Amino acid sequence: MTEEEKKEQENQESPEEKPEEEAAGAEQKLEAKEDKKHLPASVGEGSISDEMPRRSFFSWLTVAWLAFAAATGGFFAMTVRFLFPNVLFEPPQSFKIGFPDDYQIGQVNIRWKKLHAIWVVRTSEYIYALSTVCPHLGCTPNWLDNERKFKCPCHGSGFRKSGVNFEGPAPRPLERFKITLADDGQILVDKSKLFQYEKGQWDDPESFLKV
Ligand code: FES
Repeated sequence: MTEEEKKEQENQESPEEKPEEEAAGAEQKLEAKEDKKHLPASVGEGSISDEMPRRSFFSWLTVAWLAFAAATGGFFAMTVRFLFPNVLFEPPQSFKIGFPDDYQIGQVNIRWKKLHAIWVVRTSEYIYALSTVCPHLGCTPNWLDNERKFKCPCHGSGFRKSGVNFEGPAPRPLERFKITLADDGQILVDKSKLFQYEKGQWDDPESFLKV
């Protein structure tokens, strides 16, 4: 008897065993299905493993947008800053200071000291505009009418009414500015052009106004 004939004979001898095996297999499948049903929802399809990457993607997107917004804002602020730079508003360099008769002969006029940083001096022959900046280290001297001199409060330099230094550490006289008569008869001072005594510039006709 061949092997195949033997198997066929065995099958014919126990026909009731086969359905039992099939039933056992079906039972196992059913149990497995039941187990799946009782698993927590998060373990099923479309659960944590799928959601986590999605969440982290959205949080990275938010961070990216915030970074982009910050960078754009910074760039915009810099652009505005560039369009409106710091502007230093200074008094004009050229200005009128009234008529010659407004100034008394032999007097040092301190009216424009604060606004334009000049003293206006009138002699019997001419008017000139002196700088209020001490040529030593840049302090502002004071006119002492009783002593008829300019005195620097910082290191004690003294200057005569003409502006020439005579005491203290100042290395040279005060400077004078261009002074002319405007069309309307007023005195016009131009601080963009200065004249220095030590360079012989006080002889320049623009450094004084003949009256
Ligand atoms: S700054 Fe005027 S004496 Fe020094």
